[in-house]
Amino acid sequence: MLKFSLVIIGAVFVSSASIAQDAESFVAEWAASAHAEAGAEAFTHWNEEGEIPATCAVCHAGAGFRDFYGLDGSAVGTVDTTIKTGGVIDCDTCHAPGAGAISQVQFPSGLTIAVDPADATCTTCHQGRVGGMRIQEATADGDLDTVNPELGFMNPHYKAAAATLMGHTANGLYQYVGRNYVGAFEHVPGLNTCTSCHSPHSLEVNVAVCTECHGEQPLDAIRARQVDWDGDGDVGTGVAVEIETLRVKLVEEIKAYAQSVVGEPVAVSGSAYPYFFADTNGDGEANTDEAIFPNRYANWTPRMLRAAYNYQFIFKDPGAFAHNPRYAIQALYDSIEDLGGDVSGLVRP
Ligand code: HEC
Ligand code: HEC
Ligand code: HEC
Ligand code: HEC
Ligand code: HEC
Repeated sequence: MLKFSLVIIGAVFVSSASIAQDAESFVAEWAASAHAEAGAEAFTHWNEEGEIPATCAVCHAGAGFRDFYGLDGSAVGTVDTTIKTGGVIDCDTCHAPGAGAISQVQFPSGLTIAVDPADATCTTCHQGRVGGMRIQEATADGDLDTVNPELGFMNPHYKAAAATLMGHTANGLYQYVGRNYVGAFEHVPGLNTCTSCHSPHSLEVNVAVCTECHGEQPLDAIRARQVDWDGDGDVGTGVAVEIETLRVKLVEEIKAYAQSVVGEPVAVSGSAYPYFFADTNGDGEANTDEAIFPNRYANWTPRMLRAAYNYQFIFKDPGAFAHNPRYAIQALYDSIEDLGGDVSGLVRP
């Protein structure tokens, strides 16, 4: 850690041999990370076509990212060259000349936020693709409990850590009108950025840093407040567990709403796109013959879409408990309550 900081503070203080040595270990760390996993679905999804559409390429290849920010000499704000498949999140995604000068990032909600330059790359790609305001627009018309055949599931996309972290300032989650939501997670000075908690190369959380304050315990056992958010009477578990209980409560509430209000039961899959399917045999599970695209759920009411979006957003950010625990709890609580669920035992931050 110390050696790493010295290199960053100023090459003046370290010999070039030592920089070369660091670069070597960074290469090894990066090579073992998800960013270098060339065979992952996130990099091979377009293999049949051979090129990645511009709207996807920004985040799914280093070349697309450089094109978007004009780091390759092209126009800023668009991907205007053909991005071939086969790329990953390579070194130059973050180290191309000019990458370190990006100091603000636009979110899908349209809001632009100033960020620490070391975080600008992470924030661009890990921000999701929809945003709460788009859900508000899509669900603004018509009765909240009447099926709108024009609605389909709006997928927030995956691991939108930056949108969680920024809270209401990025408007990642669907935010119910008349409710207040926290802004960016105020953790502790020096540990509020992506790259202060995660190594930018291995991507792993620097656990040794966490134990200085939180002690020797698994990350998902960390809790800061003796508040029983999920109403299960247990404040001995981590805030991650409180969020997980609320998430499970919410999915049960979505199923109950689909059954009793819409009259068309829904089955929810954790892995099959687009995640919400008609529960044709009514057993409450997404069976393999149900979890197929042609059987996707088609009876969305505005109220159900809002809650399902929040559910999926938090489900697909497994670090939400560390990115912005209270923002996650607020949205889960509000979604459960809006569907008519019992929130009498729960605590809203
Ligand atoms: C704002 C950035 C961004 C954009 C734009 C984007 N993605 Fe992604 N996508 C991501 C990130 C980040 C992940 C990685 C999630 C993870 O770590 O598993 C991902 C993951 C995926 C996955 C893998 C999902 C899985 O379950 O493994 C697919 C498939 C995918 N994206 C398709 C697309 C398509 C198709 C488009 C364009 C229509 C697109 N993405 C646009 C950021 C983006
Ligand atoms: C996802 C972004 C990202 C990727 C990909 C990445 N790095 Fe880094 N790297 C960083 C960040 C952030 C720092 C910390 C320095 C800073 O604050 O800008 C850093 C620091 C470094 C440093 C220390 C000196 C310096 O420039 O500050 C070296 C050397 C380095 N990276 C090499 C590499 C190499 C080689 C690769 C590819 C194998 C790579 N990096 C891939 C983000 C990245
Ligand atoms: C150009 C887009 C891009 C940038 C920049 C980027 N990421 Fe990623 N990140 C991705 C994609 C795509 C994946 C999924 C790769 C895979 O599935 O193998 C991913 C995966 C990850 C994962 C692992 C998730 C998992 O499913 O295991 C972490 C953690 C992560 N990124 C953190 C960061 C951090 C921290 C930064 C900034 C230093 C950053 N990312 C910068 C696109 C990006
Ligand atoms: C307070 C520390 C902290 C900050 C700040 C932070 N993270 Fe995380 N992040 C975590 C923890 C803890 C996890 C859960 C992973 C684990 O348990 O190992 C996580 C998980 C993730 C994951 C999912 C990894 C996986 O294996 O599925 C991604 C992607 C991610 N973070 C990206 C980011 C990005 C991008 C930022 C900045 C916008 C960021 N994180 C800021 C602590 C942090
Ligand atoms: C300098 C001390 C310090 C360090 C180091 C530290 N934390 Fe924290 N952490 C805190 C404090 C203080 C809070 C309470 C913040 C608040 O008011 O919500 C907190 C809150 C949290 C929470 C939310 C708990 C809850 O119940 O809301 C998580 C999760 C967390 N930290 C994870 C991490 C991770 C992961 C690391 C290491 C990358 C880390 N922390 C390093 C002091 C620290």
